[in-house]
Amino acid sequence: MSSSAGGLVVFLLSVQVIQSQDGWGVTYRQTEVCAVKGSEVEINCNYTYPPGIRYNDIKERFWFTKEKDGEPVDLKTDSEYSGRVEFECSKTSCYLKITNVRESDSAEYKLTFRTNKPSEKYTGSPGVTLSVTGLQVQVNRSNSTWLELTCHSSCDLSHHPGYNWYKNEEIIQNVSSLLVSSGSTDRYSCGLRGSSGHRSPAVYGPRSPSVSVSPSAEMMEGGSVNLTCSADANPAANYTWYKEHEDSPRASGQMFTITDFRAEHSGNYSCEAQNEMGRSTSTLHLITSPGGDTTTMIINITRWTLVVVMLILLLVFCLWMRKKKAVSSTTEPHEPREAVEMDLHPEYEDLSAQREDPEEQEDQV
Ligand SMILES: *[C@@H]1O[C@H](CO)[C@@H](O)[C@H](O)[C@H]1NC(C)=O
Ligand SMILES: *[C@@H]1O[C@H](CO)[C@@H](O)[C@H](O)[C@H]1NC(C)=O
Ligand SMILES: *[C@@H]1O[C@H](CO)[C@@H](O)[C@H](O)[C@H]1NC(C)=O
Ligand SMILES: *[C@@H]1O[C@H](CO)[C@@H](O)[C@H](O)[C@H]1NC(C)=O
Ligand SMILES: *[C@@H]1O[C@H](CO)[C@@H](O)[C@H](O)[C@H]1NC(C)=O
Ligand SMILES: *[C@@H]1O[C@H](CO)[C@@H](O)[C@H](O)[C@H]1NC(C)=O
Ligand SMILES: *[C@@H]1O[C@H](CO)[C@@H](O)[C@H](O)[C@H]1NC(C)=O
Repeated sequence: MSSSAGGLVVFLLSVQVIQSQDGWGVTYRQTEVCAVKGSEVEINCNYTYPPGIRYNDIKERFWFTKEKDGEPVDLKTDSEYSGRVEFECSKTSCYLKITNVRESDSAEYKLTFRTNKPSEKYTGSPGVTLSVTGLQVQVNRSNSTWLELTCHSSCDLSHHPGYNWYKNEEIIQNVSSLLVSSGSTDRYSCGLRGSSGHRSPAVYGPRSPSVSVSPSAEMMEGGSVNLTCSADANPAANYTWYKEHEDSPRASGQMFTITDFRAEHSGNYSCEAQNEMGRSTSTLHLITSPGGDTTTMIINITRWTLVVVMLILLLVFCLWMRKKKAVSSTTEPHEPREAVEMDLHPEYEDLSAQREDPEEQEDQV
């Protein structure tokens, strides 16, 4: 495996696939390649063409993954790969080398070649499927004090050249699994030996969580308060809330809400953040606001005074409206008649004459 010669990690499924069609053909050395992010991948093939065609007749030979308007696009012209691909062909074989592979490089790679004549071309299909994956640290608890860390990826790494383990930024060991003590907040990550690039995301236990309280840790009775807990951890921590001197938790989840706050709610609350690596706790003190009762009373008095004043105003307004209605109700029946007559007699003289009508009638009432 030339790919692992340089300390690179590619595992090949050695299946011979021979395509042949009137002398045209491509044989890839492997059909599937799994590679860890940041490593280098090499894909090889042999190719054949009909005896009537000479080597010099082949004008174009390149690797591609995408097509545009039905035509394959040369990887060397793809900006995604710029500076990272290299390929070369001899009379019978070709190789493709991709360095510093990315997850987005996962695709099917094919070789195509052609002469100057439009009918004389061939693409080796199906091609070689490349899958690029990252490394992951898996945490297993051995017992109450020790954790076992292992390095994983979805590629088969059983023949890998070895691992490097990092504690914070420092290389510590090159074993496949690492024992660490539970509760550590150090950051552990792994990488493949010989591949300087990719490292797994670091795992670490929660640091001391930060607890925030909204609106305030000084609570008025009847109010509600949100307690929020947050701790940096990987894998992400879960959260449990306790009140002091109580064994069973009050709540779980990042936010804990107390509604209708009472004096007995005051006290020390703790938030416990926990992940596979360990746990950490922070405490918060909630008290009843000393001026709480007086303030509430003042607010209530003001509120009730306002309500009473509003009711009185409303009553006065209603009485006034009823009185006004009683006065105007006698005139109302004549108004529609006035409008009809206005339409029938648009002249000014008639209009003024009609206007006098209701007044006369009103006088009569
Ligand atoms: C290409 O052909 C050579 C010689 O026939 C053989 O040794 C080699 O394994 C072949 N390579 C592939 C990728 O099939
Ligand atoms: C860690 O635990 C997982 C599942 O619990 C298990 O599949 C795996 O084999 C364990 N790894 C080790 C190294 O014990
Ligand atoms: C915990 O596990 C580690 C590793 O498996 C072992 O070395 C250690 O003796 C164990 N400790 C206890 C108390 O079982
Ligand atoms: C890895 O460990 C082996 C022994 O287990 C040692 O010979 C080798 O030098 C170590 N490699 C690195 C890069 O630390
Ligand atoms: C508590 O949080 C909830 C949800 O985010 C929000 O609707 C509510 O207004 C908050 N209460 C207080 C007292 O901050
Ligand atoms: C809360 O904890 C502090 C110390 O952290 C302690 O002084 C205080 O008495 C506790 N409050 C209650 C109500 O127990
Ligand atoms: C929190 O996570 C730990 C470790 O992953 C787990 O043992 C525990 O059951 C979880 N607790 C809750 C409340 O989800």
